[in-house]
Amino acid sequence: MTTLLHIDASARYGSSDKISHGSHTRRLTARFVRQWITLHPETKVLYRDVGQESPPPVTGKWIHAAFTSEHVREDWMKEELRISDVLIDEVLQADLIVAGVPMYNFGPPAQFKAYIDNIVRVGRTFGFDRNRDGEPYWPLLADSGKRLVILSSRGDYGYQQGGRLGSLNHVEASVRTAFAYIGVTDVHEAAIEYDEFADCRLADSIRQAEGVIDDLVSMLGNSSI
Ligand SMILES: Cc1cc2nc3c(=O)[nH]c(=O)nc-3n(C[C@H](O)[C@H](O)[C@H](O)COP(=O)(O)O)c2cc1C
Repeated sequence: MTTLLHIDASARYGSSDKISHGSHTRRLTARFVRQWITLHPETKVLYRDVGQESPPPVTGKWIHAAFTSEHVREDWMKEELRISDVLIDEVLQADLIVAGVPMYNFGPPAQFKAYIDNIVRVGRTFGFDRNRDGEPYWPLLADSGKRLVILSSRGDYGYQQGGRLGSLNHVEASVRTAFAYIGVTDVHEAAIEYDEFADCRLADSIRQAEGVIDDLVSMLGNSSI
């Protein structure tokens, strides 16, 4: 049975096809998950809404706890890492991660960055040994077969690679980098542009992104998980 982890990170409530001023990324993730379940009804879906309930940013106490060996962790350290453990357990369970990540000031929203900082953790998702031959850091989820779909939206246009604002887009690249660091390298994308213009170019862009999603659902569903 496939486990799909559905993550939303928009600060906006509701999806743009349901309410005015709703979120496009919520619309895209909902479409992906809806279509996936239609084709694979046995899928177990986990849902995490970091847009509405942000994980806490890491603190000095969190870092102290994370870099203390598990067998000598005190109770306050375990409590400090409790939310991180829950979020990591979800990632470990997931075969397919579908993340809605809007562009806020050229990168992911702070809520999603806090999520990343909670799931990229020494001893749980990456290894570190300063005495190791070669590379002292290594991904613990490599070869797990996990796949990631990043569904984004932005107000302006031309953020695709080579586009007029391509060099300013740090959304997909930063999410890819963090997930590759823990070993998730099979990554797919779709994005909406022109949100701020709210004209026929936005409508075209939504149609195009939804088409990419439909293709992704069938492509990823046909290859084994
Ligand atoms: C705080 C904030 C920052 C934003 N920064 C950018 C930006 O840097 N570039 C851009 O093109 N659009 C920017 N936008 C527009 C959003 O990317 C756009 O509205 C997108 O559709 C938001 O995703 P959502 O519809 O899922 O909420 C910003 C919006 C907000 C609320």
